Amino acid sequence: MIKNIVILISGRGSNMEAIVRSAIPGARIAAVIANRADAGGLAFAAEHGIATAVVDHKAYASREAFDAVLAAEIDSHEPHLVVLAGFMRVLTADFVTHYAGRLINIHPSLLPSFPGLHTHVRALEAGVKVHGASVHFVTSDLDCGPIIVQAVVPVLDDDDEQRLSARVLAQEHRIYPQAVRWFVDERIVLLNGRAKVTSSGSGPESWTVPLIEDDTP
Ligand code: GAR
Repeated sequence: MIKNIVILISGRGSNMEAIVRSAIPGARIAAVIANRADAGGLAFAAEHGIATAVVDHKAYASREAFDAVLAAEIDSHEPHLVVLAGFMRVLTADFVTHYAGRLINIHPSLLPSFPGLHTHVRALEAGVKVHGASVHFVTSDLDCGPIIVQAVVPVLDDDDEQRLSARVLAQEHRIYPQAVRWFVDERIVLLNGRAKVTSSGSGPESWTVPLIEDDTP
C-alpha cells in the first residue's frame, strides 16, 4: 500500500526538498503545508505537482485553535506519516497525541544536547568537539521524543555558525530521507520509549550511529 506523507515547513524547506528528491518507493508526498505564506519551500512543492496549503498561525487566537485547523488540513490528506521539516511552531499536547507514532521531526543538534533554538551557536560556545542532527518521534516535550537516527559532524577549530550549520545541514539531507524510508518500509519499532530500526523482516536490532566524514569543501 502506498503511504501518504504530509510535510510541514516554515521556511526554505531544504529538508522537504531532500525528501521529495529521494523519491522513496512506496511513498507519496500528499501535501506540503506551511504556517507562513512566504515559506520558500512552497514554490518547490508546487513545481513538483505536490498539493500545498498555508495555515497561518497569526490568524488564530490560541495554539489550540491553530492546531485544530492545522490537523484538519493535514487529515484531509489521510497521512500515514507527518514530517516536520523546519516547522517552527510548538505543538499542543492534543495535536501530538493525535499523531502519536506517526509524527517525526529533525533537529539540528545531537539530542538531548541543545534542544530549542540557536543550536549551532550554542554548540560553538560550549566548545563541543562533535555536533550534528537528530531525527526523532515527536512527543509533547519539546525536542525530546525517541531518537530514530543521528548524524555526527566534527566541530573544527575555525568553525563559525555558518560553516558549522552548512556541514550539519548536509547531513540532515542524508538522514531525514533515510528515516522516512525506514518508516515507509515499516522498519522502525518503538519499544519502551526508544526507537529501533530493524533489518527487513528479522526483528529489532541495534542501529549504529556512524561518525560522518566531513566532506564539505
Ligand atoms: C533545519 O536545520 C532543521 O533542522 C531546523 O530548521 C532548519 C530548517 O531548514 N529545525 C529546527 O530547528 C526545529 N527545532 P529547511 O527549511 O531548509 O529544511
